[in-house]
Amino acid sequence: MTENIVWHAQTVSREQKEKHKGHKPVLLWYTGLSGSGKSTIANAVEAKLFELGCHTYLLDGDNVRMGLNKGLTFSDEDRVENIRRISEVAKLFVDAGLIVSTAFISPFANDRQLARSIMTQGEFIEVFIDTPIAICESRDPKGLYKKARAGEIPNFTGVSSAFDIPESAEIHVQTADQSIEQSAEQIVKYLLDKNIVKL
Ligand code: ADX
Repeated sequence: MTENIVWHAQTVSREQKEKHKGHKPVLLWYTGLSGSGKSTIANAVEAKLFELGCHTYLLDGDNVRMGLNKGLTFSDEDRVENIRRISEVAKLFVDAGLIVSTAFISPFANDRQLARSIMTQGEFIEVFIDTPIAICESRDPKGLYKKARAGEIPNFTGVSSAFDIPESAEIHVQTADQSIEQSAEQIVKYLLDKNIVKL
């Protein structure tokens, strides 16, 4: 299908965009159970980065499923497609020079690996929001665990669909031991330590 399509090199280089923004473009790939705090922490990090003058963009689970990925279900097959599209969109935003955050369960290690593989080395930063399912379930902000346990939602992650524990995430956030503020600080500190952003 791509036989008559030729990749077009762009005039404004990535280095020029990077210099213009004053920070490195990266993808913060948040992964974790529903209710683990991905969106909340990603928003808190984005606010801090904004304060530092960074150009950021956040792609968030439920919102993307209402637009770009409307019509995709939670079957294994559709989750794979959900994550594939998000990775490609995130790659474009990173190419534009932004610090991109994606907050999706992204339960399958294979798909996270695929997302990592399409990015330039060092630009993919996996952030495991590690919240025990008992805590997610006790919070149950959207009432979905209750419904899933009652058998009203099929293929619910952690209940009736798998979540592959990230084995080598660049940032491991254990939310049971710290506040949202502390989690956000942990992530920003990583970016500062790696010279991705500057004070
Ligand atoms: S993913 O598995 O494909 O990465 P995604 O992050 O886009 O999932 O969407 C997860 C959100 O959809 C959850 O936070 C929850 O609000 C909602 N949701 C609805 N049905 C399910 C389900 N069966 N499993 C997990 N989340 C679901």
